[in-house]
Amino acid sequence: MNPIRNPYSPGAGNKPPELAGRENVIEQADLMFERMRAGNSVQPMILNGLRGVGKTVLLRRMHDAAKASGYEVVFAEATEGKPLPDLLVVGLRKALLNLSMIEAAKDRAKRSLGALKAFVAGFGVSIGEYALTYDPTLGVADSGDLETDLGDIFAEVGEAAAAANKCVVLFVDELQILEKTELGALIAAIHRISQQGLPVTIIGAGLPQVLGLAGSAKSYAERLFIFPRIDALGEEEAACAIEHPANALGVQFEADAVAEILRVTERYPYFLQQWSYCAWNIAQDEKTITWNDVVEATDVAREKLDESFFRVRYDRCTPAEKNYLRGLAELGKGTQRSSEVAVQLGCDMDKANQQRTTLIKKAMIYSPAYGDICFTVPLFDEFMRREMPDFVPHS
Ligand SMILES: Nc1ncnc2c1ncn2[C@@H]1O[C@H](COP(=O)(O)OP(=O)(O)OP(=O)(O)O)[C@@H](O)[C@H]1O
Ligand SMILES: [Mg+2]
Repeated sequence: MNPIRNPYSPGAGNKPPELAGRENVIEQADLMFERMRAGNSVQPMILNGLRGVGKTVLLRRMHDAAKASGYEVVFAEATEGKPLPDLLVVGLRKALLNLSMIEAAKDRAKRSLGALKAFVAGFGVSIGEYALTYDPTLGVADSGDLETDLGDIFAEVGEAAAAANKCVVLFVDELQILEKTELGALIAAIHRISQQGLPVTIIGAGLPQVLGLAGSAKSYAERLFIFPRIDALGEEEAACAIEHPANALGVQFEADAVAEILRVTERYPYFLQQWSYCAWNIAQDEKTITWNDVVEATDVAREKLDESFFRVRYDRCTPAEKNYLRGLAELGKGTQRSSEVAVQLGCDMDKANQQRTTLIKKAMIYSPAYGDICFTVPLFDEFMRREMPDFVPHS
């Protein structure tokens, strides 16, 4: 079928043609925005789930909805090696400038911009051409302690927003990348503005380990936030994600073609896009995508994923780490016991734990509960078996 008309969107963060099955969490966010606008307290949230389940597209969707409803929004994505102040400053500056345009908040926002200037100077943030021409506000956000100063900045933004009768929502993706002190400072800053009843909140996203990281950074994080889990789609929702975009263009999937995609993708959104995309390009008929097309698509889709999605992560691992991943893959899908992995590898727990620890740091695996271990990337077990077919488990 004509690839130019192909509606599917495999790729990290690519907006899907249909955002299937996320109504509940979208409603939850909408309610949160409305409550905040009404002056009521809200619980910030952290979306969490495995790679490719659709956290970023959800975050973007919530961001766009908040923006369209007149909220001030800041979007940031944590990146390896980029300090938290650098991540947030440009967005916060823009929000404050927007607030300063509102007559009732003009003076308050200017004072806040002065505080941001002190913050920028204190943390050596380089914001290039976006110079801040305001005088630093003495004694605010200039202590050099990230937790204190970020709290000051959030409070400043909150005060300016309150003066403007506006709400501010921060969206921060890939939270698990933040250093522990940074995550702690972010949580503490949110805690502080919540206690003050200021109209600022956060919606974050991250891999499942973000729950544990947040809890160990600040023990009250578990009570401060709600943690909606974003998972594989249900059968009906996954079928909608496959069929609706094609139907809208007058193309049908045969029922067994849909069932085959559901089976091989295990209904993970990224894979649904990849398989549907490949099946569309392979189909010869202009109106129908068949089971045969999907079976053919499986080879192409797997090859594409092996080359990119899986391999970029695999290539970051040492030979010993790869061996650990292979041992884990041998045990099958889902959560496994770390002790069982050591048995597979034929080594003692201490030795296996060395790889376990570094692989957790690299976010390849995470520990959902004490002594348990799980891949952060869905279907990674199958990839490992393809990649290292000669592995011999220790018996
Ligand atoms: N609800 C959905 N319905 C259909 N497709 C979706 C849905 N959510 C995400 N997708 C598709 O899945 C892919 C992955 O989405 P996204 O990048 O948002 O995942 P992620 O959870 O942020 O992954 P990562 O942890 O790697 O950042 C994209 O191609 C996107 O279009
Ligand atoms: Mg993402």
